[in-house]
Amino acid sequence: NNNKLVFGVNGERFEVSLSGGTVDPSTTLLQFLRYQTRFKSVKLGCGEGGCGACVVLLSKYDPVLDRVEDFTVSSCLTLLCSVNGCSITTTEGLGSSKAGFHPIHQGLLASMLLNAAFVHLAFSEAEKAIAGNLCRCTGYRPIADACKSFAA
Ligand code: FES
Repeated sequence: NNNKLVFGVNGERFEVSLSGGTVDPSTTLLQFLRYQTRFKSVKLGCGEGGCGACVVLLSKYDPVLDRVEDFTVSSCLTLLCSVNGCSITTTEGLGSSKAGFHPIHQGLLASMLLNAAFVHLAFSEAEKAIAGNLCRCTGYRPIADACKSFAA
């Protein structure tokens, strides 16, 4: 049907009507996910493709190659109208405490725990030891503080 967009998010089907001007053509995938779904893991950071806070996995059937192609996109730069027929995966789609974690969750957690636990660090070295796990935002301060609390 040409009057609606149909796509999936984490296995859930979404239909967005195009008739009656209900969809602003400038609506981004990020805006749709944040304000019209329960998938809030997608964040607005820079809003211009630079920070990765809004990245989602997009899966799309390629009729020429006759296979589904997967690629990551910055949802802040992806127009909602361009995802018709696509399947989108956010981090909620990778797993949860209820549904079971994805191996990548466990790998990241193990990496952080090992970095924190294996260095019987002096207080001043605690932050350096987990530097590879720190991003540019300020949300990791409590983790750094927790590591320091175990330092000698
Ligand atoms: Fe920063 Fe999309 S919000 S890349």
